Amino acid sequence: MSHWSKEQALAYDQQWGELAFHRQIPSLAGVSDSNNIVEIGCGGGFLSVCLATYARGVSVLALDPSAQMIELANNRRQQAGLSEAQLQFLQAGAESLNVMAESIDLVIAAFSLHHWRDAELGMQLVFNSLKSGGKIWLCEDMHTPTGGTLKVNNNLKAFAGIKQLLEQFAFTSIEKHLLATPEGEFLIVQASKAT
Ligand SMILES: C[S@@+](CC[C@H](N)C(=O)[O-])C[C@H]1O[C@@H](n2cnc3c(N)ncnc32)[C@H](O)[C@@H]1O
Repeated sequence: MSHWSKEQALAYDQQWGELAFHRQIPSLAGVSDSNNIVEIGCGGGFLSVCLATYARGVSVLALDPSAQMIELANNRRQQAGLSEAQLQFLQAGAESLNVMAESIDLVIAAFSLHHWRDAELGMQLVFNSLKSGGKIWLCEDMHTPTGGTLKVNNNLKAFAGIKQLLEQFAFTSIEKHLLATPEGEFLIVQASKAT
């Protein structure tokens, strides 16, 4: 289901799985009380735990196609003492997002968009899932190597490509920010579903 092998997932999680930047994301993305959040490409779930614990009554559904990542993520959920009502992990790619239409306040994808197998299908499902006024929040690392053994869509690591994809689905208020941190330089893109 995922093109990430068990070894790649474990190596990634060990090196990049827990970033100080992940802890900043709930505030940068504007998570607030009682938000229904979907996180796509959650990896080992460190950010998912940060999202679920950031505000009261938040519920997070976090997807990743890698079985290994989901196992790591479930361990982190248990260590954090979170229930499945607060944080649920599912082994699935963006292309299998299956939630009630117009039920989600915020969709987050950290460093995952360029991995989606079918970004157009995934984004259509994201758009359908959002309430009107709901938001998508994406980030990409501006300096990850473009080579390697994983098949990725490099267009979706740059603002122009991400904007073009979002515009296909009538997202509005598309905004870009660059954030330089000791862990890297990150491109942040957010957009809304019109009310
Ligand atoms: C670079 S990692 C980022 C993980 C995590 N979001 C983080 O911030 O550490 C990319 C993740 O995207 C996942 N991925 C691969 N194909 C995907 C797809 N089609 N849909 C959603 N996620 C996918 C991978 O399994 C991997 O966990």
